[in-house]
Amino acid sequence: MTVRTVIRGVGSYLPERVVSNAELATRVDTSDEWIVERSGIRQRYVAADGQLTSDLAIAAARKALAAAGIDGQAVDLLVVATATPDQTFPATAAKVQAALCRPGIPSFDVQAVCSGFVYGLAVIDNFIKAGQAKTALLIGAETFSRILDWNDRTTCVLFGDGAGAIVVTAEAGEGTTADRGILSTHLHSDGRQHDMLYVDGGPSSTQTTGHVRMKGKEVFRHAVVNLAEAVREALDANKLTAADLDWLVPHQANKRILDSTAQKLGLDPSKVIVTVDQHANTSAASIPLALDAGVRDGRIKPGQLVLMEAMGGGFTWGSALVRM
Ligand code: UT7
Repeated sequence: MTVRTVIRGVGSYLPERVVSNAELATRVDTSDEWIVERSGIRQRYVAADGQLTSDLAIAAARKALAAAGIDGQAVDLLVVATATPDQTFPATAAKVQAALCRPGIPSFDVQAVCSGFVYGLAVIDNFIKAGQAKTALLIGAETFSRILDWNDRTTCVLFGDGAGAIVVTAEAGEGTTADRGILSTHLHSDGRQHDMLYVDGGPSSTQTTGHVRMKGKEVFRHAVVNLAEAVREALDANKLTAADLDWLVPHQANKRILDSTAQKLGLDPSKVIVTVDQHANTSAASIPLALDAGVRDGRIKPGQLVLMEAMGGGFTWGSALVRM
């Protein structure tokens, strides 16, 4: 018998305020045409004044718990993937725990920027496989609007706020790829690329929060290579081919990166869940937002094979292969 981490419910939350490309074009020297052509992004959501990452996280988690039919009090492990925490400390997970879960359970944040949700999947899967948790809540939540330089057209048009969550439980499996649950996770990082995508502030350096800085072209180039390798690694480890996949649920940074990964895999573009046009790059929230979109509109069905992959600052990158 193998212990499997099975997704029982998915949920997401986007703030009310929509910021269109046209609105951004009134603030910086850009255009809807440029943003759509280079990134596929049409709009993004921005959290209201006073609306925190934890508020987004809690809203998404409530929906995931409701979808799973599981009470927050039954959760025995809580992980929040975020690069935009409410405060430097304590972890944003502490606020979520106080709102939704039992006191006493382990709760903490995972910081791997845009790869945060994939890193979180690996963390909860390993806790569950080690027998240290039975019901886990994993949330990806971000308020990137708070760390954008709204005068920098090369970054401010690319990111948005949002949150997505899953609830998982430990279930018995056979140890084959026919099992429901997380079948594999693969994580990577390369800190030599630290300066390609970073925030120019922090508690121990500037004592300020800082703003996102990115060498977009370089990041793009690495993303295309790293993600194609990550996808190949996941398939090879499970002795599967792209034809076995029902869905690719990638980190949503740039439509051209999604198209390139699908093309390298020989995967029909209709099998890729794309939401970047709707909410831009929401970092750790983007995979669960896309997953929730696919589940809620009925495209992603129980039993189907889903490959998730992401790449972000660090660099960090990785994949998770999941049978829903
Ligand atoms: O989550 C993981 C991390 N993020 C990513 O994966 C993002 C990776 N990078 C990208 O998505 C793309 O590189 C971008 C969308 C950021 C940029 O697309 P690009 O095709 O690589 O454009 P570029 O950076 O080469 O810029 C082309 C031109 C430049 O002008 P010059 O130097 O050719 O005169 C830029 O200054 O476009 C200019 N530009 C803009 N023009 C209008 C840059 N940003 C804008 C803008 N509006 N917002």
